[in-house]
Amino acid sequence: MDFSNSDRLQTLSGTSRLAGVMGWPVAHSKSPRLQGYWLAKYGIDGTYMPLPVAPENFASAVKSLRDLGFAGVNVTIPHKQAVFDVCDELSDRAQRIGAVNTVTFADDGKILGDNTDGFGFIENLRQNAPEIDFTRGPAIVLGAGGACRAIIVSLLDENCPEIRLLNRTKARADALADEIKDPRITVVEWDRIDHCLEDAALLVNTTSLGMVRQPPLEIDLAGLAKQAIVTDIVYAPLKTGLLAQAEGRGNSVVDGLGMLLHQARPGFHRWFGIDPVVTPELRDFVLGTSQE
Ligand code: ATR
Repeated sequence: MDFSNSDRLQTLSGTSRLAGVMGWPVAHSKSPRLQGYWLAKYGIDGTYMPLPVAPENFASAVKSLRDLGFAGVNVTIPHKQAVFDVCDELSDRAQRIGAVNTVTFADDGKILGDNTDGFGFIENLRQNAPEIDFTRGPAIVLGAGGACRAIIVSLLDENCPEIRLLNRTKARADALADEIKDPRITVVEWDRIDHCLEDAALLVNTTSLGMVRQPPLEIDLAGLAKQAIVTDIVYAPLKTGLLAQAEGRGNSVVDGLGMLLHQARPGFHRWFGIDPVVTPELRDFVLGTSQE
């Protein structure tokens, strides 16, 4: 047998731990490369695979994975809401966010749902803007989609004193604020952003604006406090127009790739037993997929 291409050689034992990511499609997912890096780094007897599952097969596929002895799965678009109904138990944060991205199969067969997006958001900021103090002042949050909800819940959990929520379609921001029901959330008109920047401690873009093939986020940061930290959940490109403008004025900036990397940690920890580290080498490795 020729093992010259041994970097592709994967050896599994009869007791390997199994996990994966379910999506439809799933080919674009960076999770197999990300989790595969950690499996190799820590020398773990396990595997993490892409699992393309159509919406109509979703519930039966989750139960089948449990019956096949999987440790758990990540769940991505379009299943993040559907998985909610399949779970036997939900973590507190998954309930409040209203979506699940990390499923663990308990020894008794129970399907446990968690949402780690907010955790990833917070940990990314802690790692890349270590001076951050979430209690220091208002956070400006742009958007009202699924990712936005996880971010708002996580900021509230970090005792952020005030969240100013702005979305092009104000009704969606109002609906989100009504659902989360926390007096610290104020909805502001999309075109009033200039009026709420001055005392902000954090500015977050959760919209798709600024992403490749999407329109730019048109915003003038002239009135933003110099101490404010600016972050974007968009990571293609890594340096969005928002981050470039903020950096040019001397604000600390944090790109969105780290949120993806950190949100993967709790699942890896539960399924494979190690809380993995996010390093510059991991960032480069994960980005390699888009450059290949
Ligand atoms: P997700 O659930 O993944 O966050 P989404 O629900 O499609 O994705 O949300 C995309 C966000 O980008 C929304 O806040 C959307 O604003 P609307 O609610 O008004 O649609 C925002 N967005 C997309 N294109 C936009 C544009 N051209 N101008 C302003 N906001 C935009």
